[in-house]
Amino acid sequence: MKITKIHAREVLDSRGNPTVEAEVNIEGSFNGDSSIVRNVKGRAIVPSGASTGEREAVELRDGDKKRYNGKGVLKAVSNVNDIIAKALEEKSFASQAKLDEALLQLDGTPNKEKLGANALLAVSMAYAKSMAAYNKEPLYQYLYKRDIYTLPVPCMNVINGGKHADNNVDFQEFMIAPHNAVSFKEAIRMGEETFHALKSILNSKGYFTGVGDEGGFAPNLKSNEEAVEVILEAIRKAGYEAGKDISLCLDPATSEMWQDGKYVFFKSDKSSKTSEEMIVLWGSWLKQYPIVLLEDGLGENDWDGWQLMTKELGNKIELVGDDIFCTNPAILQKGIDEGVANSVLIKLNQIGTVTETLQTIDLAYKNNYNCFISHRSGETEDTTIADLTVASGAGHLKTGSGCRGERIAKFNQLLRIEEELGDKATFAGIKTFKNQ
Ligand code: PGA
Ligand code: ZN
Repeated sequence: MKITKIHAREVLDSRGNPTVEAEVNIEGSFNGDSSIVRNVKGRAIVPSGASTGEREAVELRDGDKKRYNGKGVLKAVSNVNDIIAKALEEKSFASQAKLDEALLQLDGTPNKEKLGANALLAVSMAYAKSMAAYNKEPLYQYLYKRDIYTLPVPCMNVINGGKHADNNVDFQEFMIAPHNAVSFKEAIRMGEETFHALKSILNSKGYFTGVGDEGGFAPNLKSNEEAVEVILEAIRKAGYEAGKDISLCLDPATSEMWQDGKYVFFKSDKSSKTSEEMIVLWGSWLKQYPIVLLEDGLGENDWDGWQLMTKELGNKIELVGDDIFCTNPAILQKGIDEGVANSVLIKLNQIGTVTETLQTIDLAYKNNYNCFISHRSGETEDTTIADLTVASGAGHLKTGSGCRGERIAKFNQLLRIEEELGDKATFAGIKTFKNQ
């Protein structure tokens, strides 16, 4: 078995910005039987963030202002076609880890700045998909073999603010987590019903119901609290009980609010809070609202604040580190050693290869941290994260709201996987969240 061809092209993400798509062809006899020759192709597209962590692996962009305002990815594409393809074609690899090791060696930098994490990840994911096709197994099974697979609670970002929407809401993501269900299929129905109830409530209040980058509504609300209040109203209107059936998750993405050692509410009243005051705010929200998960409740450069927040709230809810960890096993290890968070957000393109992503997941589990699998605000039709969620047994993911094709593509893939698994599938439910 060997790689016969690697090819990349510039395609578009859901914001209409360029991104890298790669294809990897594999050919070989199967199970040592030279009469069965398989020739398969795997294809993958990398996503792209907007509220990116400072320590993310480098997303290589051309910077040529004459094309796509400098956002072209032709350099990353040619790094695949001219460097990676030349080095890896006609070669075979014993495992995903070996392939990824070869990619890392070709790049040779700690943050993937030479070839670009977008170039490396496109090839890494496409290879995983081609190997799954070669083995005639689903991607989740190629990534991890289990007897029983857990389908996730979809944490649906129904109100978008922060950098993802042009409104006056400071916090980036207000998510509903429909957990009181027997299956993913039922959970996503509950979520969608609530999403549609929310639309009619916002309409009746005279709010704008256009959607933000992740498919959530982006109304100009009177306060950040009002976002939670309208969601609770929508849960009731859809016939569910907040807390019992559907709980709330938040990603305020506060790195974006950090200025001169304080958190500034830039989009609403321009007031500011210290780390301690932010922790008090979250503590009071937890008392008031059925919140089970808080991601990036403090910013990436507020390590001391994070330690304090983990002491105060880490035994009450799931505290997810996104920008602070950047899916990086070395940074996560430091967080584990120093008592930061109890869960890690997993974004493949923050670290840049499938193997390193799996290493971070492994490290988290070994240290009793949860993993929360995530899309990016700039997404595509690629559904790798749906399979990764099932493979890793993470039990919850965030991949957008109740609409927009690039978000729904992941839900549809999870519906297919659940059906295919039949009685080999279980649904995660509320226990998947830390401290629940
Ligand atoms: P991003 O946002 O993809 O724009 O980084 C997602 C998040 O902050 O979790
Ligand atoms: Zn985040």
